[in-house]
Amino acid sequence: MVMKISSEIESPVLDVIKQRRSRRAYSLRPIEDEKIKSLFEAARWAPSSMNDQPWTYIYATKEQPELWNKLFNSLNDSNKVWAKVAPLLVLSLARKNFALNGMPNGAAKYDLGGANAFLALQATELGLNIHQMGGYDHQKAIVNLHIPDSYELGVMIAIGYEGDPETLSEHLKQREVAPRQRYVQQEFVMNTTF
Ligand SMILES: Cc1cc2nc3c(=O)[nH]c(=O)nc-3n(C[C@H](O)[C@H](O)[C@H](O)COP(=O)(O)O)c2cc1C
Repeated sequence: MVMKISSEIESPVLDVIKQRRSRRAYSLRPIEDEKIKSLFEAARWAPSSMNDQPWTYIYATKEQPELWNKLFNSLNDSNKVWAKVAPLLVLSLARKNFALNGMPNGAAKYDLGGANAFLALQATELGLNIHQMGGYDHQKAIVNLHIPDSYELGVMIAIGYEGDPETLSEHLKQREVAPRQRYVQQEFVMNTTF
């Protein structure tokens, strides 16, 4: 099945949606504490099943090298190459059971994804680059960070101010500047039955 892809914005969207992209070049400039708080505030106001807010975040800045390294060390080598510069690393987690009644929460990871999306758009609004990563060793993260069994692991997130793409390898530099592509709406939006 060949699906149609395009780099064009088909219909008007928020500026932050246009501007956000998963860049890999970061500046060493630290992120202000109040901006870090704003990121998690954005996540806080995401919708969730039963308003249970299952999202949980462990973050570390480079000023906390021990904790930052515990997050960093679990990353795959392909992510370490560029994420080593990111001044802020975040691990996103979801509580498996409702805080409300202890029952399994089938929407926990869905809700975490929504909160992460809010966080990503807030970061973009604050002039920060944000890059989510599934490429890390979950077992290592669990051990390094003493994560209880009652949590599911979400993505690791690198955040920082924009850096110079010239600091990246040729391959990554090209990916950094290439136009983003998406399936066109007609490939995934239906106004009819299957
Ligand atoms: C769940 C998830 C896992 C991802 N894992 C990685 C990763 O391990 N390494 C990486 O460089 N990018 C990773 N990405 C970033 C995607 O490659 C990126 O979002 C996608 O190519 C679309 O590009 P854009 O975010 O710039 O629009 C991940 C994104 C998501 C949502």
